[in-house]
Amino acid sequence: MSNFSATSAAKACAAACANIAFIKYWGNRDHRINLPSNGSISMNLAMLKTVTHVEFDKGFTSDELIINDVLVTGPGLFRMQRFLDQVRRIAEVQWYARVYSQNNFPMSAGLASSASGYAALSLASTKALNLHLNDRELSSLARLGSGSAARSIPGGFVEWYASETHEGSFAASFADPDYWDLVDVIVIVQDAAKETASSQGHVLADTSPIQPVRTKGASGRLAVCRQAILERDFSAFSEVVELDSMLMHAAMMTSTPALIYWEPVTLQIIKSVKKWRGEGLQVCSTIDAGANVHLLCLTKDVPEIQELVRKIPGVLSLIISQAGGPAQIIEKAP
Ligand code: DP6
Repeated sequence: MSNFSATSAAKACAAACANIAFIKYWGNRDHRINLPSNGSISMNLAMLKTVTHVEFDKGFTSDELIINDVLVTGPGLFRMQRFLDQVRRIAEVQWYARVYSQNNFPMSAGLASSASGYAALSLASTKALNLHLNDRELSSLARLGSGSAARSIPGGFVEWYASETHEGSFAASFADPDYWDLVDVIVIVQDAAKETASSQGHVLADTSPIQPVRTKGASGRLAVCRQAILERDFSAFSEVVELDSMLMHAAMMTSTPALIYWEPVTLQIIKSVKKWRGEGLQVCSTIDAGANVHLLCLTKDVPEIQELVRKIPGVLSLIISQAGGPAQIIEKAP
């Protein structure tokens, strides 16, 4: 039941972190509502944030979306409108909205701006319309905008549950951001938009003969990864994270049409990381739907890893992030 009572306008602002998946989400059981084929585990990234202002107004004649000062039209706008229609339905409000969003990191380069974007939009839009959703409900709602956004609602180390129902598929935190001193060194080798968006990739996942094998083994890998994080066991963590990333890329590469996100430098970094680990450095790699590589390590090893990775030709820049907190309302909007 709606609590909404404003007479002409309602606004709110929220911030959310992007996240890096250790056990990946790839493919859906139900594409319409992003019910994932398997559960996933991620860490929020404190340095990669989206801040979103939402204003609903009786007088607006259409929805408007501005990201990083650029007016978004076409598919990006339609996707947001479909999402806001769900929020308006719950709030029993028909007003259009103006959404103004700022990312502090490159969009569409496999850095999951849709995760932080839809998490921030979920929180800001429901706050503006005075909907009091609990964290579970908010995470399920964010999932409707972008699957991985479900994981950017809670803080720290997070698990998103696969379920057959909308209400059952939400993400929850299982360890606070400071539980383990893990750092993501994001190696940017490409900062242009990727050719195939994850949303299209999720649809292609079922065409891969690898996908059934990948999803069947996911619950085992989830258990190993969760345990490794809780025990701060870097060696067990590295093995399962690299295996899971490789399985997702194997599914991508064997779908029809094939999705090959890697560039030659991506492989060069994967191989270097294996070599460095063999030499005793605690580091492992994981890659999302893009060519950039996420190197996971402990704070003490960041300077050495930075120095090593910068020597690889083709590395453009690095973004270094520790674990981040939950999505939050910003009371005093900047
Ligand atoms: C490869 O939920 O970001 O990053 O929002 O539709 O683009 P869209 O999909 P999204 O897919 C994420 C896929 C992934 C793996 C992961 O984050 O688990």
